[in-house]
Amino acid sequence: MTKATQLTISASTGEQYPAYVGTDIQEHFSRFWEESVKTPECMVIIDERVEELHTDFLRAQLADSSIDILDWYVVPSGESSKCWSQYQAIVDRALQQGILRTTPVLVIGGGVTGDLGGFAASSIMRGLPLVHWPTTLLAMVDSSIGGKTGINHSRGKNLIGSFYQPKGIWIDSQLLTTLDRRDWYNGISEIIKYSYLADPSIIDTLSQCEVDKLKNNPIPINSLIEKSVRIKANIVAKDAREAGIRAVLNLGHTFGHAMEVMGKYGTLAHGEAVYAGMIAALEASNMLGAQFDMGRILTFKGWYDLHLDDYTNNIDTLIEFMYQDKKSTSDGIRLVLLEDWAAPYVSLVEESLIQKAYERMFEHLS
Ligand code: GLY
Repeated sequence: MTKATQLTISASTGEQYPAYVGTDIQEHFSRFWEESVKTPECMVIIDERVEELHTDFLRAQLADSSIDILDWYVVPSGESSKCWSQYQAIVDRALQQGILRTTPVLVIGGGVTGDLGGFAASSIMRGLPLVHWPTTLLAMVDSSIGGKTGINHSRGKNLIGSFYQPKGIWIDSQLLTTLDRRDWYNGISEIIKYSYLADPSIIDTLSQCEVDKLKNNPIPINSLIEKSVRIKANIVAKDAREAGIRAVLNLGHTFGHAMEVMGKYGTLAHGEAVYAGMIAALEASNMLGAQFDMGRILTFKGWYDLHLDDYTNNIDTLIEFMYQDKKSTSDGIRLVLLEDWAAPYVSLVEESLIQKAYERMFEHLS
C-alpha cells in the first residue's frame, strides 16, 4: 500500500467519509471504489485544463480501478462556468446518457468544477453519489471539503446551491506540479485563513515557503494540506450547514465576494479577493479592539498581483454588494472578525467601519 494519510470527515449532519491526502493514492482509490462506491460505472465531470494536462494519467487510474466511464463531461475553465447554462448542460447530458440514481459522479478539477459538479450531483434525481478529486490547492484545502456546492448569480456569489456531502475526497498532491503560480497563491489564501482561525504556526511555515520551493517538495505541502483539512473538518463536524460556527470559514470572504461580484468574477480570482478581504477583516478587527500586527499578513503581498484601481473609488458600491451576500441579514452586514489568533467571532457591524476597513486595505495594497 502506498503512502497517504487518511482523514475522516464527520459532518454534524451524520455523514462520514474519508479524505485521502498524499502523492500516490491509486491503491486507496481502487479499494475505496470497490468497497464504498461499489458501482463500476460513473459520470466524470472534469475541468478543461485538467483534462488537457492529465487525461492519460487520470484515465489510466480509472481503468486500473475497473471504473467504466458512462460519460466524460468537460467544464470550460474559469469562474464563469459556475452558471445556469453549465448546470443545465450537465443535467441534460446526465439524463441523455441514462444516468441512474445510483450512478456516482466523479468531479475532477478545482473549486469551480467541484461546486458546479457537486451541485448537479446533489440535485439530479434528488442526489447522486458524489466523489471529489480536487486538483487545485484551493479545492484541496477548502472547496471540496465540507459539502458546499453551488453556482453564482449576477447578484452574488454562490447564491444558488446546496449542502451535499460527498462519499470521499481524493487529494493527490502530484497534480499540483502543473498548477500555475496564480492558482498556487489562490489556495494559499485559504491556508492563511486557517492560520488566523486556528493555528498561528501555519503562517510561520508559509513565511518560509516560496511556491517554487513547495512545488516539487511534497512534504511541506502535504502537511499544510492535512492541517487545513483537519481544521475545516473540525468545524464541519460541529456545524455542517452553517447554522453557527461554520460561518467563521468566511473570514475575509464578505469583503472579497463583493469585489468578485463587482468585477463580474473576471478581475480577481477567488483567493486573491480573499487575501485582500482578510486584510480588511483584520483592520476591522483591530478597530474593534484586536491588536494584529498587519505586517504579518502583508509579508505575502508580493505573492499577489492585484489590480484594485477599479475598486478603490467604489467602496459604496462594494458595500451595496455586501448587503446581498448570503451572510448578511435584514439587520445589516455580518462580518467574521477576530479577537485574537484562533479567536473568531461573527458580528453585525456599522457601515462606517466597513468603509474604513476597505480604505485601509486599499492603502496597504496600493
Ligand atoms: N468555504 C467556506 C465553507 O466551506 O464553509
